[in-house]
Parts: sequence; structure tokens; C-alpha cells
Amino acid sequence: MKMSLENIKIGMCVGQDLYTESGQLITPNNTFVTPELLAKLKKFKIKWIEMSPAAPDDNPNTTDHVEDIPDIFDIRNTPGFKSFQSETSEAAESLTSSLDSISHKSPDTVHIDMINNLSTLLYENNKSNLNLIDMVYNMHEYSDAIYTHSVNVGMIASHLGHWLGLPDDDIKLLVTCGLFHDIGKLLIPKEILEKSAPLTPEEYKIMYSHTTKGFELLDQFDDIDYRVKRVALLHHERCDGSGYPMHFMGDELDKYSKIIAIADVYEAMTAERPYRGPICPFTVVDYFEKEGLHKFETKYVLKFINKMVNSYLHTKVLLSNGKEATVIMINKNIKSRPLVKMDGGEFLDLSVTPEIHIVKMVS
Ligand SMILES: [Fe+2]
Repeated sequence: MKMSLENIKIGMCVGQDLYTESGQLITPNNTFVTPELLAKLKKFKIKWIEMSPAAPDDNPNTTDHVEDIPDIFDIRNTPGFKSFQSETSEAAESLTSSLDSISHKSPDTVHIDMINNLSTLLYENNKSNLNLIDMVYNMHEYSDAIYTHSVNVGMIASHLGHWLGLPDDDIKLLVTCGLFHDIGKLLIPKEILEKSAPLTPEEYKIMYSHTTKGFELLDQFDDIDYRVKRVALLHHERCDGSGYPMHFMGDELDKYSKIIAIADVYEAMTAERPYRGPICPFTVVDYFEKEGLHKFETKYVLKFINKMVNSYLHTKVLLSNGKEATVIMINKNIKSRPLVKMDGGEFLDLSVTPEIHIVKMVS
């Protein structure tokens, strides 16, 4: 179906090889429209484009039912996660029993499903493989930051897997991948891990080795799924080849590594660090929109952005001009810059006011 440029939206699928007047390829057939591609099409003054009717499952812009969207995306603030955290730390001598108790709590939030998955996995693994549970427990002992980050990444990844319509087995596997992706950090000296000053090139090299070290550590266990081992090795790879340790490109990477990579970056940016506060989720979306669409699997990252920003609808935010406002409507083309309603009642479209941006979530 032929469409005019003004009707083409991010997430739609181009249905032709598109060339400039001089014959230079702008984009190949079957490419999802990204903000960069939209800008390119405008730059080359393309007026009409043959669009492909992408299958709903492949289309990252497919709108999902509102009831699927969690009220608050920040998993760390959910009652389920808070109880998970306190129970696991209080019952240090018996991780299994505390996880078991969580699995029997009433499913009062959408997140409880993931926590159930997590606890079931750990519980079942604990029955069959004490070394496996020891490794997760050691993460807690070695560094609460690694432990909390890993649990969060597992839960965020399972959310993303659910949003992408992956089967239950894949979603459970993503939780395990999240738990073990950074296990190689147990083999990195604490003075490097916890250093607040910038790392030296030599220290970066050691830090980067947590990927290969993690893979080698997990590879000693025959009964750990090879996909979990592969994620430990590849979660810092990027689709444009800019990652490490192998500099793989997108088609060399598996879906689990790609999903954990997105969850890992989101968690790391929104978590508080000794040297900085948490980065505002809309700033993270801005990063994903500007740089992430090439570095990460485009359709995964678009789905992630869509769902995440929708979860902040009707949320109060602090703007860079010091005023508070409520998120009213998400701008489809620039998700990081929604329409907001000021406390005084007037509306402000952040997509056309580049001098003002969201700095913090208030509630
Ligand atoms: Fe990592």
C-alpha cells in the first residue's frame, strides 16, 4: 500500500527498496521505520512510499491493550519486589524458604507473576543443583549491587519477553539469564567494581572480562542451559558491532542476549549509583530513541519504549523549568517528550519545546 510521508509513523514497515534520485539506497525492503529513517526520508524529500503490511507480532508499534500495562514500571518500587528484597536479606540463612514463602503470596500486582517465576526457578534449581543457588547467593554476599541489579534485569527482561509475546518457557529462561548475566563480576576485584572515579584503560579491560569470565564460570556446569551461558558472554554486544567482547553484529546475536542487553542498560541507568542519582526514565527513553535503535534490536527496543512510556501516563513529573506537570499524552514520534498538563492547568507539548524536558518522576 502506497502512503504519503506525513502518514508514515515509527514502527511501520517499508515495503520496497528505497533509493535517492541519484540511485543511492536509503533503506532496503522490510525495514521498520525509526526516527532516524523518518528524518532521512524527509531529508531526501521522499513523498510516497510503498509500505508493507507487517505481521502484528513483528510490528513493534502494535498497540496492546491498556490492561497489560503495569501502573508503575519501576519494579524496585513494587510491593512484590520490596518484600522479595527484605525477605531474602532477612532470611539469609535460608534463601530457599524465603523464596518459597514469596511464591505463596497473593498475586496482588502484575509483577507477582514474575516473582513467582523467579522463585519457582530458584526453588526448583535449588532442589536439583545446590551450586546454582550458591552462585546467586554468593552474588548477594559479594555485592548487593550486583545481586539487586541481576534480579531487576531478570524481571525487566521477563516483562519485555511478555510484551514481545514470547512463550512462557522463554520468559522463564530470561529470568535465569538476568540472574546470571553478570556473574563474572564475582571474579572482578572489588576495588575496580566499586571504584567511583573513572576507570583506567587497564581497569576497563579487567571490567570487560566479566563477560568471558562469567561464561567460563557457568560453562563448568553441564546442567546450566547453554543459552544462559551465551547471555553471560554476549550481553554487552551491540547490534552495530560496537559492543564487547566479540564485536558481534545483530544477526550473530541471539534473542535472549539482545533482550538482556536492553534490560541491563535500562536497569543500570535508572538505578542509583554512589556517584549519581537515578537517571529519569524519560532521559533513558531519549537515549534509546537517539542511539539505541542501531545498537539494540530495533523492534525489541521500540516495544520496550512504547510500553515503558505508556506506563508513565498520568504520572506526575518535574520539568527542567522547576515546575510540576502530569503526563497526558505520549507523542508517537518522540516518546521521550510527551504532552503534559501543568499544575496551573495549561498544556505544554514537550516535543515542540526543546528547551524544557522532564528531569524527574514525582509520583
Ligand atoms: Fe555486564
